[in-house]
Amino acid sequence: PPYRVGVIVGSLSRESINRRLASALVRLAPPEFEFFDIPFADLPLYNRDLDVDYPQVALDFKAAVASADAILFVTPEYNRSLPGALKNAIDWGSRPWGQNVWANKPTGVIGASGGSIGTAVGQQSLRATLSFLNVRQMTAPEAYIHYTPGLVDDDGNVTVASTEEFLRAYMTAFAEHILRVLTVIPRP
Ligand code: FNR
Repeated sequence: PPYRVGVIVGSLSRESINRRLASALVRLAPPEFEFFDIPFADLPLYNRDLDVDYPQVALDFKAAVASADAILFVTPEYNRSLPGALKNAIDWGSRPWGQNVWANKPTGVIGASGGSIGTAVGQQSLRATLSFLNVRQMTAPEAYIHYTPGLVDDDGNVTVASTEEFLRAYMTAFAEHILRVLTVIPRP
């Protein structure tokens, strides 16, 4: 496929509902988009003392982000904010100063939780950081997914038809957003 989208799941949990949501989103996307996971679990805690000698794992993380035409964040909300591990990964990508890998990247934000506000507050925290980092965010549509048990099955199928249609529309809009950004900002 001509476009490659990096998927960053904000949860490290083996049973993550956000990873399940991500698997469903990949299946609902238009066919000319290909998706690959960008892991961040092995990053150490960011420390600016390491800016002069970036650890290889952080260089690899930045290279993966740089190689992507766009980034899709699929993340839980932790204590009304974004998970600390995800923030740490974003911080690594933003440094050393002047080498912010996120700049101009077409980006989507979505998340699932068992709570009824469906990560809305966590997404706002994430969006504030992405805004500062000069990311090209899709601001609408928004998607706050209230995850009920079994919503996404083991094969990545969405079991509620109205939710499936909503998520398909979200991915169609995200694809259009990516193409719109890429018409003015060339790909890496
Ligand atoms: C949560 N959870 C949660 N849910 C929510 O709607 N708002 C919140 O602020 C929080 N805060 C929070 C903090 C911490 C440390 C944990 C572990 C959990 C519940 C959360 O939505 C639930 O555990 C999801 O299953 C997490 O997503 P993953 O890991 O399954 O993708």
